[in-house]
Amino acid sequence: MVNILSLITGLAGPSGFGSASTAEQVTEGVDASKLTAIITGGASGIGLETARVLALRNAHVIIAARNINAANEAKQQILDKIKSARIDVLKLDLCSIKSVKEFAAEFLSLDLPLNILINNAGIMFCPFKLSEDGIELQFATNHIGHFLLTNMLLDKMKQTAKTTGIEGRIVNLSSIAHLHTYPGGIRFDNINDEVGYSDKRAYGQSKLANVLHAIELSRRLKAEGANITVNSLHPGLIMTNLMRHSYFLMRFLNILTGLLLWKNVSQGAATTCYVALHPSLKGVTGKYYVDCNELEPHALAKDETLAKKLWDFSENLVNSASKLKEIN
Ligand SMILES: NC(=O)c1ccc[n+]([C@@H]2O[C@H](COP(=O)([O-])OP(=O)(O)OC[C@H]3O[C@@H](n4cnc5c(N)ncnc54)[C@H](OP(=O)(O)O)[C@@H]3O)[C@@H](O)[C@H]2O)c1
Repeated sequence: MVNILSLITGLAGPSGFGSASTAEQVTEGVDASKLTAIITGGASGIGLETARVLALRNAHVIIAARNINAANEAKQQILDKIKSARIDVLKLDLCSIKSVKEFAAEFLSLDLPLNILINNAGIMFCPFKLSEDGIELQFATNHIGHFLLTNMLLDKMKQTAKTTGIEGRIVNLSSIAHLHTYPGGIRFDNINDEVGYSDKRAYGQSKLANVLHAIELSRRLKAEGANITVNSLHPGLIMTNLMRHSYFLMRFLNILTGLLLWKNVSQGAATTCYVALHPSLKGVTGKYYVDCNELEPHALAKDETLAKKLWDFSENLVNSASKLKEIN
């Protein structure tokens, strides 16, 4: 699990980086000029810093966001600092299956390559609500939206990797909160029930799903011999808009432990940028990272049977929600 001592001291781990490393430091010297990357939720917080640093390393960055105004402001903010940045903005609302399908269709119509997919967007601790497809909102946004998006972009990533010979990388932003989920991990039998809903456990469940998704997809791609890696990570604790539903609790924790446990945004984006770009991770897949170093996730997150079950469950959920939409 998270090494508290290295978190507090910022001491580097075996990778040569640690909790104090910034996204710029971990990508120093990397030339990403041949790469195209999609970053979900790239208009704020960790996603925005990830977009900036990938653009700084000359990648073509697509910010996928539900709020186009915020995304255009984010794009301008990056362009103000990096005149040569290649940034585009496309609309994506992850809690809507229709929107995910429209985003994928729009991106594919651009006929761009796709080397890197960063499944970064997320919501946390929100009160019980169903998405427009009738799926519990944290599971719909954090897991199902990314599951569908990844599946819809996978052929493009395989084709890009094949024609360019450059390894594709998929990065799932999970959280240490995957430890705090419902008993058994995923509420397969009552995923959308308000009864028994816990805003904290539902977040943990969706973040466990992010790790399991990475593990199962990695296994499938390996079996196919596809030149694409899939990894997941915990970025650290960073004061961002994510805390909007738990602002006072998080602010209190932040004041109490701020100097010891919390990172700034450039440190918070470091693990994402490391996993997405660092050459030492070539061929590394199905792993979980914290502070730019590989760590063991919770036992549930390493359960391959659970990962396969979640895959089938997610596929059925997307299919039945899509069919329901067609009928109505
Ligand atoms: N910050 C932390 O301490 C921490 C710790 C562990 C894990 N993480 C993970 O890190 C990731 C990034 O979080 P952050 O801290 O950078 O939070 P953030 O600043 O709130 O960024 C999250 C982004 O996701 C977007 N988003 C939310 N719902 C969406 C939807 N339905 N469709 C498309 N985009 C949507 C948000 O857009 P809007 O502005 O429109 O809402 C926002 O741009 C999340 O997956 C989170 O779970 C963060």
